[in-house]
Amino acid sequence: MDYIALANDVGLEALAALNNVDSQAKLEEFYVAYLAKKGSISTLMNHMREVPDKAAYGAAVNKVRQEVSAKYEEKKSVLAKVALNKRLEEERIDITLPGSATSFGHINPYRLIIDEVTDIFLDMGYEVCEGRDVESDRFNFELLNVPKDHPSRDMQDTFYFGDDYLLRTQTSAAQAHKMCEMKEKKPIRMIAPGKAYRRDDDDMTHSHQFAQIEGLVVDKDISIAHLKATLELFAKKMFGQKREIRLRSSYFPFTEPSVEVDVSCFSCGGKGCNMCKGTGWIEILGAGMVNPRVLESCGYDPNVYSGFAFGVGVERVAMLRYGIDDIRRFYQNDFRFLKDYPVK
Ligand code: PHE
Repeated sequence: MDYIALANDVGLEALAALNNVDSQAKLEEFYVAYLAKKGSISTLMNHMREVPDKAAYGAAVNKVRQEVSAKYEEKKSVLAKVALNKRLEEERIDITLPGSATSFGHINPYRLIIDEVTDIFLDMGYEVCEGRDVESDRFNFELLNVPKDHPSRDMQDTFYFGDDYLLRTQTSAAQAHKMCEMKEKKPIRMIAPGKAYRRDDDDMTHSHQFAQIEGLVVDKDISIAHLKATLELFAKKMFGQKREIRLRSSYFPFTEPSVEVDVSCFSCGGKGCNMCKGTGWIEILGAGMVNPRVLESCGYDPNVYSGFAFGVGVERVAMLRYGIDDIRRFYQNDFRFLKDYPVK
């Protein structure tokens, strides 16, 4: 038997079969039939035992294998290219279709005001202490000189968790925390921007949820002159260099004396207009000298330390600044309202 001729025949048969291969699946079948371990080219070696001239036969089989393998690789890369082109063709993107619009988040205007006020006070060396939304009765009321039976509690009814915990009615709670936390009772300059809550029937000017920015300064020899100068600087930076402020006496249990602070109208410059209801002044915040009883309850010696505090209503300032007529808009998640403000 002519083994070498047999090997060449198998080679020719393989090349003919490869010629007919026109897909990657068929190429795989071809590989299994001829080149894999049990394929007919590989099994040619099984004849080695019977072959007289083993060297010549081995060389012939190798030559067949090399030729078929080379053609096989060639075919493989051609078919891979064909498959890739087919995929690219199928996956082609139709750029004439309308795109899906991405919607961007906007910054709620009350957050813009918080950022602006925070920047002003950071520039003056204040630190930001946010406090917490869920407060204890002690920090929200007791330490601020509002005992359990105090009539001012009626105006600050809120959402309670049992008897002792509540959603804070004022960011003033954060100042009590700060004073109590100060281990060596050092001077304080802080602001506390954040949410406050009160039980309220929501309407255009009332919301059961709102934001305030509390400010607190405690140091030796702090007087009402410091309070006035600080708030005047704040008003000018916030509402314009020409603004003036005026203090009207008021009452808060945790400050003594207490004041309401008005800023000269930034719409008419003080002449009187719709914005200031003809008075020339717009009320923007409550403030006062920290009540000595509050200093004492929070561990500061009122004979050594004094201080001032203020609380700005954030939505009120935002409404004035941006001409927003209804406080509920801040919390209704209506995208049409937010889209007038910058994108985050
Ligand atoms: N906590 C007061 C309020 O909510 C505002 C205020 C803060 C007044 C600090 C004086 C000093 O109305």
